[in-house]
Amino acid sequence: MTREWWRDAVVYQVYPRSFQDSNGDGIGDLEGVISRLDYLNDGTENSLGVDAIWFSPTFPSPMKDFGYDVSDYRGVDPDFGTLETMDRLIAECHRRNIRVLLDWVPNHSSDQHPWFLESRSSKHNAKRDWYYWRPAKPDGSLPNNWRSVFGGPAWTLAKETGEYYLHSFLKEQPDLNWRNPEVEAAMHDVLRFWFDRGVDGFRIDVMGMIIKEPHLADNPLNPAWKPGDRERSSQLWVNNRNYHEVYDAVKRIRRVFDEYAGRMAVGEVFGTAQEVADYYGSPSMPRLHLAFNFQFIHEREPIYTPWEAETLRRIVRNAEAALPDGAQPCYALANHDRSRFISRHNADGHGLVRARAATVMLLTLRNTPFLYYGEEIGMEDVDVPEDRLQDPARYRSIGRDPERTPMQWDGNEGRGFSTGQPWLPYGRIDRNVAAENRGQDSLLALTRRAIWLRKRTPVLREGSYRELEAPGGVFAFERSNGTGAASVAINTTGTAVDVDLPRPGTVILSTDLRQEGTACATTVPVEPFGAVVVL
Ligand code: GLC
Ligand code: CA
Repeated sequence: MTREWWRDAVVYQVYPRSFQDSNGDGIGDLEGVISRLDYLNDGTENSLGVDAIWFSPTFPSPMKDFGYDVSDYRGVDPDFGTLETMDRLIAECHRRNIRVLLDWVPNHSSDQHPWFLESRSSKHNAKRDWYYWRPAKPDGSLPNNWRSVFGGPAWTLAKETGEYYLHSFLKEQPDLNWRNPEVEAAMHDVLRFWFDRGVDGFRIDVMGMIIKEPHLADNPLNPAWKPGDRERSSQLWVNNRNYHEVYDAVKRIRRVFDEYAGRMAVGEVFGTAQEVADYYGSPSMPRLHLAFNFQFIHEREPIYTPWEAETLRRIVRNAEAALPDGAQPCYALANHDRSRFISRHNADGHGLVRARAATVMLLTLRNTPFLYYGEEIGMEDVDVPEDRLQDPARYRSIGRDPERTPMQWDGNEGRGFSTGQPWLPYGRIDRNVAAENRGQDSLLALTRRAIWLRKRTPVLREGSYRELEAPGGVFAFERSNGTGAASVAINTTGTAVDVDLPRPGTVILSTDLRQEGTACATTVPVEPFGAVVVL
């Protein structure tokens, strides 16, 4: 079997509202993305060199959850363009050898989707059972105790019929009933619709929640919960997340992918290393191609993972131990739901240097790396004034706007993003593509070097993973295959260290540019908070 493309790919996440505005309305759009594709990959080392783009949702949406509330799975939101623009975007990506992943949101639709409008209209409507409708309990209380991920009860009363409907997120995002075979068939057809247009795969939103316990039984209370903790963790999400039958639904989804050649599914899943691993299935019973491992962002919500060698080593060890044969990890250091990397690791002001080491780590670990737009130029969370906040999901006190601000292309007032008033304010002006293109030593230049190095160095893509002995505060590992081995050392301390090498070699990548190309015999020096790769 030839090696699947996604095993070697570096994937870049575009948040379409924030990447490039082409018409001055302050909202990023697909035409804008097309105009920036050469930045992502023009076939030369002057570009980032990413192999695929994951677009957060581009479908028609009332934008209550900025696209994660889909009112038509087969279109393009007018804010972003038209189906014709999407076809052109796909063609322009393919021309540059960039694969296209769209964001499939199977767990819920918008409350404005025609399916839901029908479903809510009467108890006897043919689509009634496409969503979860339940009367209040005899004592007048809610149908069960489930909470919304965004806070509050997961049930809202609809006056038309006096029944409640289930929404695991906003009340404008009613959950689809995947136990109804018509729903499953309709959603599978959505995949085929886009595959037929040339889409190469999907990131699957909240994969683990599409199948619920058949009687929607209450979740047990969480004995570890104490007042002041997040309300939603007051219960254990066992009847509505990673419920055992979800894996069968995943298997059937995978069959739709397999009707087409070379398509890929990456699931947004949460849970232990084992629960994540289970989404991969086995070689004889494949499920997803990839499932996100978010442990570098947080091992346990709501606490962010510290940038600390022991922790990093443990995360990789657990992932490698849990995954079945042939499965490849998939890590992310940031996305549109969490604080940006630098902002999470900047208490002492060293966030930017840590981001450099983190980039080296992400691009040299055994995995399919996902990069969130703007991370490569060191964008930070932006302090969005109260009156400009957009995200209604305030599960972090201010919602997720700070990490969704417009991409910064240059140092002009509109950052090269828009000529109009941007939908969210811009970040610090010094972090922009034009400025970072001027220096060899920028985070952008380092990210590019790391991606292209990975591309031309098979052992970094295909090699197996092994931990190396290292001084305290250093996470070191080796990637090896039949032909050679690369050693990687990540220094999470503020002091320079010498790290022992299993064999002599040359520094092929370093956070300290001047070190690249130097030969090392038995040890390699690593700068404070820095990282090196020796081959
Ligand atoms: C996922 C998305 C998030 C969205 C939620 C509901 O977690 O990443 O942005 O709000 O699902 O669709
Ligand atoms: Ca626009």
